[in-house]
Amino acid sequence: RESIIIDTDPGQDDAVALLLAFAASDRLDLRCITTVSGNVPVAQTTANALRICELAGRSDIAVHRGADGPLLFPLGTAEFVCGPDGLAGADLPPPRGEAAPGHAVEAIIATLRAAPDDGVALCPLGPLTNLALAFRLAPDILPKIRRIVLMGGALGLGNMTPAAEFNIHVDPHAAAVVFGCGRPIVMMGLGVTHQAIASHEQIARFATLGTASGRAIHGMLTRPRPGGLGTAGHPMHDPCVIAFLLWPELFDGRDCFVEIETAAGALRGRTTIDWNGRLKQLANAHVIATVQAHELFERMTERLATLP
Ligand code: BDR
Ligand code: CA
Repeated sequence: RESIIIDTDPGQDDAVALLLAFAASDRLDLRCITTVSGNVPVAQTTANALRICELAGRSDIAVHRGADGPLLFPLGTAEFVCGPDGLAGADLPPPRGEAAPGHAVEAIIATLRAAPDDGVALCPLGPLTNLALAFRLAPDILPKIRRIVLMGGALGLGNMTPAAEFNIHVDPHAAAVVFGCGRPIVMMGLGVTHQAIASHEQIARFATLGTASGRAIHGMLTRPRPGGLGTAGHPMHDPCVIAFLLWPELFDGRDCFVEIETAAGALRGRTTIDWNGRLKQLANAHVIATVQAHELFERMTERLATLP
């Protein structure tokens, strides 16, 4: 089993990613969940993480509340995509439980310090603020990181702006710290996640699982997306991170040098990916470009069917 920490801003696709991780507990040892401001402010992403744990009967997993905004820029959120509470359509009650004591950054540091070298994989599904703060506060934790498998960036067009994907756009300074940290990074950007589109037929399948989780997933993914991309379904950005941990053979990519644009302006948050090695820089990320989407949804559905 691979030990992991999921850092997240649920967010409907974050919620599906968390559920997939729960459903794969035979393969993944989820040490804790840490939350961050992103899709909605951190008080709400924390409540949402707790709601998802309760939905799946996994209130045993500690949820630590993290950074309430980016390192330098003011916070920009995405209610226009995920609804006022971030999980529109899930139809879940408020959480019964509370966040665990200790800030997310402290939890990341403590978990990594207690681990052996290469002991824990970090799985960020939102802006990278918590990770950057942890790396700056406690650089001694870096050797403990086995790998960072993150959702962020774009090998082509952005979704927040023409240049930038949402997670990197929100906190590009944090992204620059993480991409410069020297540990192995797998980048799951829009180039691949826009291949992992849950079609209307696939979304309907979730409803037929006959479980509370299946109904919640169906509700979240059928909600109209006024700010969406006009795709024929709902992109499963964040679940690709968990799917990569479970089924790397479904994905293909290349080691590349990736540079983060931190300046304000039209290029803010752009991930410049040196796909052809023109810049002669050392690669700092394994950039995923393709996924076998049909097989991905077969395997995801099979796993998610095992949840309550
Ligand atoms: C990313 O932005 C968020 O809205 C999603 O949860 C995902 O992490 C996609 O750009
Ligand atoms: Ca997310």
